[in-house]
Amino acid sequence: MKRLGMGLIGPGFIATHHIDAVRRLGDVDVIGVAASSHDSAKKRARELNAGHAYASYVELLADPAVQVVHNTTPNHLHREISLAALRAGKHVISDKPLASSAEESRELVEAARAAGVAHVVTFNYRGHALVQQARAMIAKGKLGAPVFVHGRYLQDWLTDERAYTWRLDPKLGGASSALGDIGSHWCDLAEHVTGSRITAVLADLHTVVPIRQAPATSAKAFAKRGKAAAQREIAITSEDLASVLLRFDNGARGCLIVGQVLPGHKNDLRLEVNGRLASVAWQQEQPNALWVGHHAQANTLLERDPALLDPSARSYAHLPAGHPEAWADAFRNLIADAYTWIRQGGSPETRPPALPTFEDGYRNSLVIDAMLRSHAAGGIWQAVDDGHEPPRKKGKRG
Ligand SMILES: NC(=O)c1ccc[n+]([C@@H]2O[C@H](COP(=O)([O-])OP(=O)(O)OC[C@H]3O[C@@H](n4cnc5c(N)ncnc54)[C@H](O)[C@@H]3O)[C@@H](O)[C@H]2O)c1
Repeated sequence: MKRLGMGLIGPGFIATHHIDAVRRLGDVDVIGVAASSHDSAKKRARELNAGHAYASYVELLADPAVQVVHNTTPNHLHREISLAALRAGKHVISDKPLASSAEESRELVEAARAAGVAHVVTFNYRGHALVQQARAMIAKGKLGAPVFVHGRYLQDWLTDERAYTWRLDPKLGGASSALGDIGSHWCDLAEHVTGSRITAVLADLHTVVPIRQAPATSAKAFAKRGKAAAQREIAITSEDLASVLLRFDNGARGCLIVGQVLPGHKNDLRLEVNGRLASVAWQQEQPNALWVGHHAQANTLLERDPALLDPSARSYAHLPAGHPEAWADAFRNLIADAYTWIRQGGSPETRPPALPTFEDGYRNSLVIDAMLRSHAAGGIWQAVDDGHEPPRKKGKRG
């Protein structure tokens, strides 16, 4: 098979996992990286053994050896860099959120369509075999009509007031912090698994830590407790805690709690769907088991055993039962789907059904926007605005 070349822009925390996932495919070459400066690109290219260090992302985009661009920069750069990559005719895999606002996301969807290339946004939790299993069970009616969709995405890495990240600066991270950063993953997962859309939300947001001590100079993602270095006080305006009620287009009700200042919760994403016949529940930190709940028979815990999975979920499980697969494997599954799509030309008809696209990224930003509007209006129901949404993808459900 013809090998593909990828280039990565923004070689920070998540970039390591993009490169790792690409390497596991075996048929993609890591051509090089571009960072915030040439020196930092050289350093990261060395550390990641990632080929060429470009002086800038513009130089990377000009390299014909790069056919696929991974955009893993901070949120405020997503629009500019993804647009430039699309205009250069590259396939684009952007990390989430797609852009800093719904308007910017819509612009990217339109540019991706005009470019006729593959466009992917890494809502990576879709890549778990048991997430696909839950989705298949719901699509096949095994749960009956879903009536309640609920869960959480809780973390604790911002608990300490000396922890600081660009995510907390609206100019860099966007208007929302916790919802945009991790609530976005949950909303995408809930819609993907249920096959239903969130139509209205009622949100209560809160900033538990309104003043933080940030390093006087740069602030890396996931910066830990401040050391002895010079600090500056920063007033935080975006939310680190959120409680949201949801309504879905199939009539189901829902509720979601999100927080990044909750001691003990590391990456605690959970989703439960209750139907009229049965329920399913899945936890990111225990990803090899799917709880299936019944009313008049024993509940079961379905292990991630390829032999027991729906055919649509089986290819997302690579190891036999009892050999755990987790976050990095799901990430690799998503990247594998992305490259399958790229090899098939990136047309809407050939998209693997589990693969999140820029359309999903735009859709997601409309949901988060509605949550911000709901809170700003004093905690009242707000419709998720899809009046300006590009038409849904044709063909496969997703
Ligand atoms: N899918 C997930 O689960 C997941 C997890 C973490 C982060 N993310 C997303 O990935 C993105 C990056 O997050 P991170 O945690 O890796 O952040 P990070 O701060 O660790 O990395 C960002 C990188 O971008 C580089 N950069 C800054 N300006 C640049 C420029 N002009 N040109 C090129 N590179 C530049 C920085 O030097 C740094 O290497 C964010 O959008 C975030 O939401 C997604």
